[in-house]
Amino acid sequence: MILVTGGAGFIGSNFVLDWVAQTSEPIINLDKLTYAGNLENLATLQGNAKHLFVQGDIGDIELIKRLLAEHKPRAIVNFAAESHVDRSIHSPEDFIQTNIVGTFRLLENARQFWNTLGAEAKANFRFLHVSTDEVYGSLKQDDPAFTEENRYEPNSPYSASKAASDHLVRSYHHTYGLPVLTTNCSNNYGPYHFPEKLIPLMIVNALAGKSLPVYGDGQQIRDWLYVKDHCSAIRRVLEAGKPGEVYNVGGWNEKANIEIVNTVCNLLDELRPRADNKTYKAQITYVTDRPGHDRRYAIDARKLEKELGWKPAETFDTGIRKTVQWYLDNQQWVEHVQSGSYTQWIEKNYAERKT
Ligand code: NAD
Ligand code: DAU
Repeated sequence: MILVTGGAGFIGSNFVLDWVAQTSEPIINLDKLTYAGNLENLATLQGNAKHLFVQGDIGDIELIKRLLAEHKPRAIVNFAAESHVDRSIHSPEDFIQTNIVGTFRLLENARQFWNTLGAEAKANFRFLHVSTDEVYGSLKQDDPAFTEENRYEPNSPYSASKAASDHLVRSYHHTYGLPVLTTNCSNNYGPYHFPEKLIPLMIVNALAGKSLPVYGDGQQIRDWLYVKDHCSAIRRVLEAGKPGEVYNVGGWNEKANIEIVNTVCNLLDELRPRADNKTYKAQITYVTDRPGHDRRYAIDARKLEKELGWKPAETFDTGIRKTVQWYLDNQQWVEHVQSGSYTQWIEKNYAERKT
């Protein structure tokens, strides 16, 4: 079996659902259930013996030790993290605790467990760390896309904490020989994306008749990948990646934020027109920029494509249409995640931004 952390969050829950659907191997899912973790994402797995959910913290040394000794997973896939850049600007502490201290403790537990294994199990064991393109910093307009050779230049407390965790993972291979793999992926989108992030926030705000807050001039560029394609890349790296190696994951889909917002509006105009038949674009509002906002990310995924034969199944056009349709079909999921703490965050993040 494999142990996944953060499997009740956006990407983790998509990974767990796909894993159970596509393999016969059991999966243990350890998640702290922070504001971003949601067991409703996993509702279809209720009663499924292949999925064991455990609520807990990757930094809980005794709990992880017990889970590893009891279940003897052949691999750990570490999704657990604080993931929202704006939250890291308001309150960085949780990012340091989970992304750095938590990853360190998970690694240390993994190393101690790995040392107890026989030669074959030791050679086959994998620790896959899920990371981000943000560790490479910000690109200028004409810079080539990030390769695995780019130096680390993290600019936010979030990306700095992810960079620190990547370095710890690297060191556990270099120093102890732990068979680690690291993936650095670009921006994901798709089902179960928490509506604090750009694409789901725009969809839910548009439908609620609220403003669509675009930071700064809206010309910042992100490189978008449908979440199921990120999950297939992780499965492929787990299966065939070389221990100690880093693989960039991306779908060659660079888009300016304002283009993303316009696309979401166009799709909603088609699929769920406003009662007054005006376009949702009328709700777009430019607001004060994010401090230290990275201008452009772009991933060069050629290593993963050439060495491991991975390629994404969705284009941006097919993926974004599926995503908007998913939110239209899952209004109840949206209502449930918009709890008291969600409302408080939205007020905190947007109240002080001038329009
Ligand atoms: P998310 O915020 O939606 O989910 C994070 C999950 O981790 C939640 O279920 C939360 O409860 C859990 N968690 C948080 N702290 C924990 C702890 N201490 N112990 C156990 N569980 C804990 O995040 P996401 O967008 O699904 O991102 C998952 C991973 O992928 C992160 O490591 C992130 O850095 C990385 N990543 C995300 C993107 C993206 O676009 N979302 C892109 C590249 C990489
Ligand atoms: O690049 C990978 C990263 O992508 C992941 O590591 C992070 O976990 C993930 O959250 C995401 O980070 P971003 O900061 O790029 O994502 P976010 O959805 O917060 O913002 C995307 C862009 O949209 C960014 O340039 C900021 C802008 N934005 C965001 C919000 C929430 C707006 O213009 N308005 C908004 O209200």
